[in-house]
Amino acid sequence: MTTKNNKKLEKAWSGRFEEPVDELVKRFTASVNFDYRLAEYDIRGSIAHAEMLCSQKIINDNDLQAIKTGLADIESEIQEGKFNWSLDYEDVHLNIERRLTELVGDAGKKLHTARSRNDQVATDIRLYVRDQIDSTVTLIRRFQSNLLDLAEKHVHTVMPGLTHLQVAQPISFAHHLMAYFEMTKRDVERLSSLRNRVNRLPLGSGALAGTTFNIDRLNVAEKLGFEGVCENSLDAVSDRDFAIEFCTTVALIMMHLSRLSEELILWMSPQFQYIEIADRFCTGSSMMPQKKNPDVPELVRGKTGRVNGHVVSLLTLMKGQPLAYNKDNQEDKEPLFDTAQTIRDTLLVFTDMLTGISVNKDAMYKATAKGFATATDLADHLVRKSLPFRESHEIVAKVVKLASERKCDISDLKIQELKAVSPMIDEEMIGKLSSEAALESRNHIGGTGSLAVNKAILKARNWVENDDI
Ligand code: ARG
Repeated sequence: MTTKNNKKLEKAWSGRFEEPVDELVKRFTASVNFDYRLAEYDIRGSIAHAEMLCSQKIINDNDLQAIKTGLADIESEIQEGKFNWSLDYEDVHLNIERRLTELVGDAGKKLHTARSRNDQVATDIRLYVRDQIDSTVTLIRRFQSNLLDLAEKHVHTVMPGLTHLQVAQPISFAHHLMAYFEMTKRDVERLSSLRNRVNRLPLGSGALAGTTFNIDRLNVAEKLGFEGVCENSLDAVSDRDFAIEFCTTVALIMMHLSRLSEELILWMSPQFQYIEIADRFCTGSSMMPQKKNPDVPELVRGKTGRVNGHVVSLLTLMKGQPLAYNKDNQEDKEPLFDTAQTIRDTLLVFTDMLTGISVNKDAMYKATAKGFATATDLADHLVRKSLPFRESHEIVAKVVKLASERKCDISDLKIQELKAVSPMIDEEMIGKLSSEAALESRNHIGGTGSLAVNKAILKARNWVENDDI
């Protein structure tokens, strides 16, 4: 980043100023250090704006050609890392405009006709967020596809389903994973509905009140792929609710991935030993030679807090601002950019990590046998013998107490012992108390039985591969 001696410098807005801006103020108010990331959107927006100015006869053909050539050159300079970003020109918009004028002369000075940086920046951010929505959806679909690959292999893998972190009922590992498919499917739906709200054009709103020129906003909207225009100029330049919504939507995705991370961490611990995560996603300890730490899921859990923080920053940024644009809004960018970067990296690494998970079916199965996981099934069998559920619940509670005293599973109790608790318990019921039987007696939609889960996987696969955002 370069900076020049202030005294000689003419700024785009310095006409009425009698002294140069203070050096510290220059640094304090500049945003080019981070908003240079908007350059490609800024250029795209400028081309659409200039074309419209020309077709509305506000600038002539020669001006338009000069502007387009200049902007194309600037785009190459930026891509090749040759562009000289300067703090003296405050932000991405003024840096590009200054260079354009340097390259093509007076035509460059006409580009800002009927435009303000206020509607310009709002347009750039909307284009940026729209791109981030699309790439996040693509990355979620890849994550889901790997999740389905893993689920497919474990439709018959029994594990304890937990409530209160206590063994509750047997489920399949596939069914557990499919819960995360449902969560991330809703995440995609949220992104897709947000896209409609983001996809509106602010340009034409000027600084806040519109413009005196005979502009054609619908034409600019169409060129930039927007579905419509922002319908109120004050709202268009001042609200950043769409950026906040993107960050909250990402916060929800991160929250889902954080829950899965927490489970992977537990499952990988020596106390559980349900899974192994491939070495390339783990690190060791510099002191304890035996350690293999699940750093990737731990960092995903940690970065979730970071995104939550960005949501709070942005909500706080907006809440006290009177209409319309205020410079406060410049602070929207870093939280937004960091949120986009975080979800991108997280989804990339997580998707890859799913292929490095190996499952210890034996440990999962043994853990299921420990917690009287089929007690509800026994109660259900008694209900089918026409006992009211509350009574069967009480009988089975006594059976559990007995098994617990004998230090065995319910299915290991002798039939005489069971009959002593309730004569209604019969041998056939006991035969149906295995974890596998428990799974297979739940084959309704949403159940953990293998038929139901296979159907759910098939439906999910279809959705991942075919659904357009
Ligand atoms: N860099 C500014 C931002 O990000 C651009 C808009 C500046 N507008 C203004 N009136 N100072 O918000």
